[in-house]
Amino acid sequence: MYVDVLLGLQWGDEGKGKIVDFLAPQYDIIARFQGGPNAGHTLYVNDKKFVLHTIPSGIFHKHLANIIGNGVVINPTTLLQEIKNLESVGLTIKDNLFISRRVSLILPLHMQLDAASEKSKGDDKIGSTLRGIGPVYMDKTGRNSIKYGDIFLSNFKERYLKLKSKHQELLKLYNYSEDNAAYEEEWFKAIDALKAYQVIDSEYYIDQALKSGKKVLAEGAQGTMLDVDFGTYPFVTSSNTISGGVCSGLGIAPQKIREVYGVIKAYCTRVGSGPFPSELHDETGEKIRKNGHEFGATTGRPRRCGWLDLPAVKYACMINGVTQLIVTKVDVLNDFEEIKIGESYQIGNNTTEQFPYIVDPTLQVNYQSHPGWNCALETKEFNQLPTPLQNYINTISEKTGVEVSIISTGVGRDDLVLRS
Ligand code: GDP
Ligand code: IMO
Ligand code: MG
Repeated sequence: MYVDVLLGLQWGDEGKGKIVDFLAPQYDIIARFQGGPNAGHTLYVNDKKFVLHTIPSGIFHKHLANIIGNGVVINPTTLLQEIKNLESVGLTIKDNLFISRRVSLILPLHMQLDAASEKSKGDDKIGSTLRGIGPVYMDKTGRNSIKYGDIFLSNFKERYLKLKSKHQELLKLYNYSEDNAAYEEEWFKAIDALKAYQVIDSEYYIDQALKSGKKVLAEGAQGTMLDVDFGTYPFVTSSNTISGGVCSGLGIAPQKIREVYGVIKAYCTRVGSGPFPSELHDETGEKIRKNGHEFGATTGRPRRCGWLDLPAVKYACMINGVTQLIVTKVDVLNDFEEIKIGESYQIGNNTTEQFPYIVDPTLQVNYQSHPGWNCALETKEFNQLPTPLQNYINTISEKTGVEVSIISTGVGRDDLVLRS
């Protein structure tokens, strides 16, 4: 029938997983279209916390097909671990998970190459999650990568060894070596174990599903400001995290896309290096981190925190064609006297609302101050939310020109205020 898209508009960790889990019952298929185990999507189901890295966030809904699309990269070891964790709580992953044959495999040495590359960059390092993402996408675009479908071919091991020796040569250039024989053995065991799960030609599977009236939700990983083309390059990930990535990452045509849900936090965070215009280096930033438990879901690193950056959000709305905004973690700001929104940037004498090609170190953010609401949020009705919070949300809508349709007020599945 149609494909809706849900993606992050900031630097990742906007709360995508929780919202996908909430929206999932309206769909037949949830599909990841890019990224890999660098993602960490947190869901609370019956008060129990789960962090998904490669498996789509619809997996807790038994009627749904969850697809790992061709644009994703998987590490067999971590995927198997994720599957086992979910099976241990009674989910039937063999029925609900479908892996595209065209997915690229993260090989054991991809992670070493990631670490070697980061080490060689010194202070300029990206702050990668070190899951092998950059190196595997390099192999994909360099036309070297091994696809998931290749594990069923008789020359799989041969191809693996060929690529491995290329990786070894590269590691020599980096002067980097680490013994990984035990990990490699585990990796091959995981490959064998994964053969018990469903593999599909996901482009045909989705096409058939759409023709038979089914609805698909494409789940983004990372965020627009980490997109390899439009993010704060080179401090980005290695895939297209934007709505355009859905077409290439799942093999669907653009006219099949209906709604584009853009998820933002009520403030802003970033983990890893790179420009962050509205970052706070003071006790206010510390308070946001503490209230919001802002520590990475994949690496546990503290997330950098700052005020909402509207020029960046508007840029992301433009690139993705966002049709509805979802604002998460408003409760994190419940005890602030004053809340600021970055409205424009000041670069010397120039004021601009556009996100610049290079974020100049002298760039300043022009903020608009908003009164805090200073109370807990106990309602599910927008009109009963404290007036300063309603105004805050309305400001986001007015400035972006996009309606805010969902407001998230806590970690739980139902901690939501729906506007339409
Ligand atoms: P994702 O990568 O976009 O799925 O987001 P993460 O799971 O990495 O990070 C979002 C974090 O915020 C998780 O710990 C969620 O449990 C939590 N979270 C999501 N929505 C809300 C919310 O509205 N309020 C609060 N306090 N926490 C939230
Ligand atoms: P989710 O899907 C936040 C960041 C890393 C680093 C940069 C490159 O949970 O929102 P990579 O491992 O891709 O080489 O890292 O991107 N990064 C994320 N930050 N959330 C994520 O995913 C991220 N995935 C990668 O911290 O700065
Ligand atoms: Mg995350």
